[in-house]
Amino acid sequence: MIEFIKKLPKAELHLHIEGSLEPELMFRLAQKNDIEIPYKNVDDVKKAYEFSNLQSFLDIYYAGAKVLITTEDFYDLTWDYILKCVKNNIIHTEIFFDPQTHTSRGISFETIIRGIKEALIDANSKFGITSQIIMCFLRHLSQDDALKTLDEALPFKDDIIGVGLDSSELGNPPSKFEDVFKKAEKEGFKLVAHAGEEADISYIYEALDLLHIHRMDHGVQSIKSDELMQRLKEEQIPLTVCPNSNIELKVFENYKEHNIKKLLDFGLNITVNSDDPAYFKGYLNQNFINLYENLELSKKDIIKLVKNSFNSSFISDELKHEYIKKVEEVVRLYKG
Ligand code: ADE
Ligand code: ZN
Repeated sequence: MIEFIKKLPKAELHLHIEGSLEPELMFRLAQKNDIEIPYKNVDDVKKAYEFSNLQSFLDIYYAGAKVLITTEDFYDLTWDYILKCVKNNIIHTEIFFDPQTHTSRGISFETIIRGIKEALIDANSKFGITSQIIMCFLRHLSQDDALKTLDEALPFKDDIIGVGLDSSELGNPPSKFEDVFKKAEKEGFKLVAHAGEEADISYIYEALDLLHIHRMDHGVQSIKSDELMQRLKEEQIPLTVCPNSNIELKVFENYKEHNIKKLLDFGLNITVNSDDPAYFKGYLNQNFINLYENLELSKKDIIKLVKNSFNSSFISDELKHEYIKKVEEVVRLYKG
């Protein structure tokens, strides 16, 4: 089964590119750019990656992102993730980036997007990997700041498929960003938002009813309402669930407590993703393997999860069919 999981072609729909910054690259860039980081060596970094909740992670994640300065740095960051895609058989990926984390340090929007985009172009020509870019607004900042960021993004509209909402969830509900999502919708962006990662179901309702999201990031708290579960099932809103992340950030006490199998069995449109893999002990395959080993996912469950990701992605129907066919080829190879 583990071999089967590794061989399956996959799509990833919830991956923060800054969350794929491995300690080795963090050190190299810190040295090159003369940026101070609070660690002596890679072991020291790994020891610091012990989180009690989302905020305890975000503090460390934003500190790490400070080493990213030039277009080349964003290229190298993205390229390292692409090499992980190759290893994990990820053939399509939709990447989040947090422009405000960088523009607030004086890095231009163009520097960031060019580095990411050039790596993704090379990923396509070298490995045939397809991709999209989604920019996320930081919800701990103001809506005015998000509106300013949306304006900065407009000259690069062709390179950005959608907008999202991330960072500190508690105390920063989707309703705070209604205007900026309305504007993004008018501009033709796809809409996603982190909702119901730590916060209660009112955040999920707001993301659906006020932001009009096409896809929900995390959403695991939905299980607390039968009515919401029924609605998500009927509307087949995709949920980008990130199991390793939920365990590392103590959303669930341990893997056996994770509710992904219950959500899937209820009939929700569930996908598996790695969120911030450099911080959460593993890339996409490791998330699937952990689920398989702890929650007794069947082969049928795994195939469903993988197909859901392609079907929930922002690619053409034609490409979806092509990718699903690739999945079915591997399923046929591993029949029995
Ligand atoms: N930014 C990066 N990872 C995140 C997560 N899991 N939740 C909210 N914001 C994030
Ligand atoms: Zn996330």
